[in-house]
Amino acid sequence: MDRPLINWVTRLILLYATTCCSLVRATTTPQELLRGFTATPSPSASSFQPFLSDSTGNYSLGFLRVNRTQLALAVVHVPSSEPVWTANPDGLARWSDQTRVFFNGSLVIADPHTRVFWSSDTSGDRVWLSNTSNLQIEKLDQPHSVLWQSFQFPSDTLMETQNFTTATSLVSSNGLYSMRLGFDYIGLYAEFNERSGTGQIYWKHKALEAKAEVIEGQGPIYVVLNPDGFLGMYQNGSTPVDVQSFSSFQQPGYGNRRVRLEQDGNLKGYYWTGSNWVLDYQAISGHCELPSPCGSYGLCQPGKGCSCLDNKTDHNSGRCTSPEKNSGDFCGRDDGKYTVLRSSGVELPYKELMGYEQMASLDQCESACHANCTCWGAVYTNSSGFCYMLDYPIQTLVGVGDETNVGYFKVREGAGKGSVEVGYGVAMLVGAVLVLCLGVGLGWYKFGRRWRRRGVGGGGYGEEEGGGGGGGGAVGPYKEMGSASFRSIELCER
Ligand SMILES: *[C@@H]1O[C@H](CO)[C@@H](O)[C@H](O)[C@H]1NC(C)=O
Ligand SMILES: *[C@@H]1O[C@H](CO)[C@@H](O)[C@H](O)[C@H]1NC(C)=O
Ligand SMILES: *[C@@H]1O[C@H](CO)[C@@H](O)[C@H](O)[C@H]1NC(C)=O
Ligand SMILES: *[C@@H]1O[C@H](CO)[C@@H](O)[C@H](O)[C@H]1NC(C)=O
Ligand SMILES: *[C@@H]1O[C@H](CO)[C@@H](O)[C@H](O)[C@H]1NC(C)=O
Ligand SMILES: *[C@@H]1O[C@H](CO)[C@@H](O)[C@H](O)[C@H]1NC(C)=O
Ligand SMILES: *[C@@H]1O[C@H](CO)[C@@H](O)[C@H](O)[C@H]1NC(C)=O
Ligand SMILES: *[C@@H]1O[C@H](CO)[C@@H](O)[C@H](O)[C@H]1NC(C)=O
Ligand SMILES: *[C@@H]1O[C@H](CO)[C@@H](O)[C@H](O)[C@H]1NC(C)=O
Repeated sequence: MDRPLINWVTRLILLYATTCCSLVRATTTPQELLRGFTATPSPSASSFQPFLSDSTGNYSLGFLRVNRTQLALAVVHVPSSEPVWTANPDGLARWSDQTRVFFNGSLVIADPHTRVFWSSDTSGDRVWLSNTSNLQIEKLDQPHSVLWQSFQFPSDTLMETQNFTTATSLVSSNGLYSMRLGFDYIGLYAEFNERSGTGQIYWKHKALEAKAEVIEGQGPIYVVLNPDGFLGMYQNGSTPVDVQSFSSFQQPGYGNRRVRLEQDGNLKGYYWTGSNWVLDYQAISGHCELPSPCGSYGLCQPGKGCSCLDNKTDHNSGRCTSPEKNSGDFCGRDDGKYTVLRSSGVELPYKELMGYEQMASLDQCESACHANCTCWGAVYTNSSGFCYMLDYPIQTLVGVGDETNVGYFKVREGAGKGSVEVGYGVAMLVGAVLVLCLGVGLGWYKFGRRWRRRGVGGGGYGEEEGGGGGGGGAVGPYKEMGSASFRSIELCER
């Protein structure tokens, strides 16, 4: 007799909280959702609209605005607004009053007129959020049983105590990179070609096995971000088979760390200082060692940055080739045509992890690639005779001193035209920027020096971007590369 009354009161409170107060303060956001719960995005919410909070208020579940018009159901770290989990990264809903999230035993995000974007497919009684951001759906029997938890379905982030197993993977938010476990290693993989299955491995960390060994037949390994500040790899015991310690190793602070697979393919650890996240660990430290730091047909030279393999295209335009010419293979009747680009003094950033064939000469290596319609290019190392063949569109090559390393790259026919177009685009852009610079310069002159002190000046952006990177650009190289507005500022500064 008691129970229905309590439920009724809770629902009333929930209704009150979700309809009138959810946007006001995190503390008024409910800490559990029961069957019957429904929420709709509000047109006025600018970036995030919470409807469920954990006991500390550090994390909330809510509607996250993506690209202004789209919507993801996400768990967000409230003080920093960083999303740590997304339910529907591959099927974003619209930010409209047609979209709703409801809990009918399953947590569902749907547009009743069109489709279900995501569902937990459960038959639970309650949804709640743990103080480490684990979203759980429980059955309210005694004791409560957990039917579903977001920690088993990570998106790009691993939180403390979350069990990362061989059944799970992290996927970067742009969908290009993933992290998976092997028999005794952590691997990072790039999906450069939708037609090749498992992707190209570009980083591998094998267990050091200092204190315990990985033994065949004793089950798969798993990885846990330990509250003591390390990424531990375990098999069936509590002694780690591997420890990768962070800068904050053994610093206190339970619940203050997270690891994310970034859009540039790097794996980074962060430590919460109480006011912001600081970099605590990174798998790849050199900018040129990232899987594709300068994009397709790009050339990365340590200490010098990005340019294009063909020397003709200006990398400042943002890319070296047009993306539409850069997918699939050369096997179809209509896409079999290509021209060849050769470049010496280059190598693949992760060649230690690539398969190769030993060949007697560069000619032989090139012919093998020429004869194979799934081959996009090959790099031949004269000193060893290794021929590395690429079965995905050419990514960034690394510049090395050794001129006997020669790359052979297919360029899709029409891509030549494309690069002319790109070249033309660059000319237009440079023209526009020059006009802009002239205009700004004129303005500058007119308004005197006062503006300069407060303005964009002094290469402030560049400094921020390069900061902590030590030339390698450890922080934010992706942003630096992708954003045209950064470039135009730099051009003006020159
Ligand atoms: C957001 O928009 C940008 C530019 O239009 C696009 O490249 C990106 O893929 C979009 N993101 C998502 C998640 O749709
Ligand atoms: C909950 O809603 C979804 C989507 O409308 C539906 O497919 C599912 O059957 C419902 N579950 C229950 C238990 O009613
Ligand atoms: C977080 O939850 C755990 C139990 O789930 C509890 O032991 C711990 O004290 C909580 N931490 C905070 C800061 O509330
Ligand atoms: C993590 O998952 C693995 C595989 O499911 C399991 O054997 C292990 O006990 C789990 N570890 C923890 C700490 O939950
Ligand atoms: C691991 O499993 C094996 C066999 O399954 C067992 O012999 C061994 O004692 C286990 N080790 C630990 C630390 O539990
Ligand atoms: C969580 O909340 C507590 C108490 O407000 C705060 O001290 C701590 O820094 C927060 N942790 C994170 C990761 O936000
Ligand atoms: C590209 O230009 C550099 C100098 O600007 C030159 O050393 C190099 O040989 C050129 N490479 C090609 C493939 O033309
Ligand atoms: C490549 O290696 C062969 C033998 O290993 C050597 O004879 C030849 O001179 C080398 N070619 C170049 C361009 O260094
Ligand atoms: C063509 O190359 C792919 C990888 O690039 C390889 O798997 C395949 O076996 C090659 N085919 C032939 C006929 O050599």
